[in-house]
Formats: sequence, structure tokens, C-alpha cells
Amino acid sequence: MTEENGLVSAALEVSKNAVAPHSKFHVGAALEAHDGTVYTGCNVESDSFGLTICAERVALTKALSEGARDFKRIAIVGAMQTGELSESSDSGSEATSGIGPCGACRQLLWDHCRNIEVLSGSQQGLVVNRWMLADLLPDAFSFKN
Ligand code: THU
Repeated sequence: MTEENGLVSAALEVSKNAVAPHSKFHVGAALEAHDGTVYTGCNVESDSFGLTICAERVALTKALSEGARDFKRIAIVGAMQTGELSESSDSGSEATSGIGPCGACRQLLWDHCRNIEVLSGSQQGLVVNRWMLADLLPDAFSFKN
């Protein structure tokens, strides 16, 4: 079984692939299936801003398209990339208290993963916050219960 910090590390690692020329906000997500397989994704931005795809949705659609259906938890890491060394970090990224998934991603995760655990990680690879998805999206819309 993948350890929590290992999942955060996977999210941190894939965040380095973020395609975020507009926001400079680099996000990585690592979605763990019940069989232990980890599917990762980073955010991919568009010049037509609204077409941007979040890291969580990239990870989720990669997993679904590989045939995975049964999920356990997701780790998310995000930070503004300053491109220069700062006092708060030695990697050129600004420290954050950890991000949660955006509203659209909460719905899609609910649609396909139901009540998984959501881990928010730091740039140091630590879990800094955790929720159950149902608490992030109360009374979620669904065709089925
Ligand atoms: N972003 C994510 O990848 N996941 C989230 O949950 C929130 C936002 C991305 C989208 C965009 O590329 C950048 O972060 C700033 O919004």
C-alpha cells in the first residue's frame, strides 16, 4: 500500500511537469486506486484560459481511461512558481498552507470516486491538510445515490 507521504511525493514530482505559462501556479495530483496503482496529473493551461485543465482532472481521466474504477484517495500539491529563490523556499516556489481541489474537480471526483480521502501536501512533501470528499462537497449532485 502506498504511504501517504509517498502519494504526496508523487503529486509533487508531477507538478514539475505543469504547463502553466499564464498563472505560474504549478499543481500536481496523485490518485491512488484500491489496488495500489497511482495515477498522476498536472495542470495544463490554454491560451483560451477557460479551457485550462486542472491537475486532479488530468489524473482522474488518465486513471479512468486506463480502466481503473475503484479509488481510495488523492493527494494534491500546488504552489506559485516564482522562478527565483525566495526566503520561504529554496526551490523557487512559494510556501502555501496546502490547496484543496476546485469546485469543478470536487464534482468530477465525486462522480467517479465517491467519498475518497483528499490529502493536501506541502512543497516539502508533507501532508498539511486532509478531508473526506463528502465534506468538501456537501449534498453533492448525482443521478444515483
Ligand atoms: N488548478 C489545479 O490544477 N487544480 C485546482 O484544484 C485548482 C487550480 C490549476 C488551474 C490553473 O492552471 C492554475 O491552477 C491556477 O488556477
